[in-house]
Amino acid sequence: MNDLLLIAALAALGAGTVGLLAAPAVRLLRRRTVAASLSAVAVVAVAAMTAGTVTVAQAMFLSDHDLGVVMAVVGMSAVAALVPALLIGRRVVAGSRALVDAAATVGSEEGFTAPADPPTSELAALGEALAGTSARLAESQRRERALEASRRELIAWISHDLRTPLAGLRAMAESLEDGVAEDPARYHRRIRVEVDRLTGMVDDLFELSRIHAGALTLTLARVSAYDLVDEALAGAQPLAREHGVRLVGGGVAPEAVEVDGREMTRVLGNLLVNAIRATPADGTVAVGARREGGDVVLSVSDGCGGIPEQDLPRVFDTGWRGAPARTPRAAPGGHSHGDSGAGLGLAIVRGIVEAHAGRAAVRNVQGGCCFEVVLPAAPAPAGAARSA
Ligand SMILES: Nc1ncnc2c1ncn2[C@@H]1O[C@H](COP(=O)(O)OP(=O)(O)O)[C@@H](O)[C@H]1O
Ligand SMILES: [Mg+2]
Repeated sequence: MNDLLLIAALAALGAGTVGLLAAPAVRLLRRRTVAASLSAVAVVAVAAMTAGTVTVAQAMFLSDHDLGVVMAVVGMSAVAALVPALLIGRRVVAGSRALVDAAATVGSEEGFTAPADPPTSELAALGEALAGTSARLAESQRRERALEASRRELIAWISHDLRTPLAGLRAMAESLEDGVAEDPARYHRRIRVEVDRLTGMVDDLFELSRIHAGALTLTLARVSAYDLVDEALAGAQPLAREHGVRLVGGGVAPEAVEVDGREMTRVLGNLLVNAIRATPADGTVAVGARREGGDVVLSVSDGCGGIPEQDLPRVFDTGWRGAPARTPRAAPGGHSHGDSGAGLGLAIVRGIVEAHAGRAAVRNVQGGCCFEVVLPAAPAPAGAARSA
């Protein structure tokens, strides 16, 4: 027993000495390749074993022959340990280099693709994390570019839309000034209509900029869909009458939503004005509200004959308007909010609805199209059972 303890102590002494001598090497290996570290581990392990064996052999006076046998075994073990260490090390180094090269493509045009067959699970995880980051970066760059493009487009369109009525106003003012206007009262009326339209446009732009800046402060209150529809119908009635369009508020369920009443009236107003304008005289515009699961769906359907399928995804885009040229339309009764003809109305609709955690959509229906605003239903007031 004592012999064994002595042998263990001697082996520890020999191996420990090698360990102490190897300590500075560990420092030198910092920031070197994995292959170097793995080789160092193998070399230190074999050297420690050799040192322990030799120390024990010296103390126990082993014969040269026996010592030679032991050293031959140790030598073979050293080779057996070093070869896999080097091979594994090289694979890890190659895998890391490939990943480093691939990482340089994060955020580039072509995007990042993780190298196939990573040598270790850590490198595989790193590759996956980089792929995720790259995808998020690409998505935000795409969004940024789209936003920038739509902003540039909007500015171009708005300047065009401002120039035409301003030129008209200037011409009318000059005629009045020179006293050559045949019917000054008509000029005055047209000037007021144009100024109203421009005011509506500036108001829409202001609303849109508040939406984009996230500065839309909503004063939420519980209101019934019935009241919202009622108010919007009352507001749109004069325009409908003027266009000979029938407004029907059929199928309005008594559902409650929690919304900013003023903003939501603006949403329905914009949808109604569009629907009335798109519907030929004698046509019908129908407004409805229904419950769908946890949502309340407000809908405005018209008799426009349908929006071309390829245009459907664009109708809510800022500044988009249908095929006819971007010339301001002549409206007999002046203009209201969301009706400047600048293609801002539906962008405002979408912005306001999304600020209410809802969504706006459009689809074609029989004879026309149907705009829908989906809002989360207001929770039932405390203590009141929901009546179906
Ligand atoms: N109810 C509708 N029926 C058919 N087309 C519509 C309807 N509402 C909107 N559109 C189309 O979408 C475009 C964008 O509408 P909007 O954003 O309100 O701008 P604007 O009314 O100023 O043109 C309209 O120009 C029109 O072509
Ligand atoms: Mg409009």
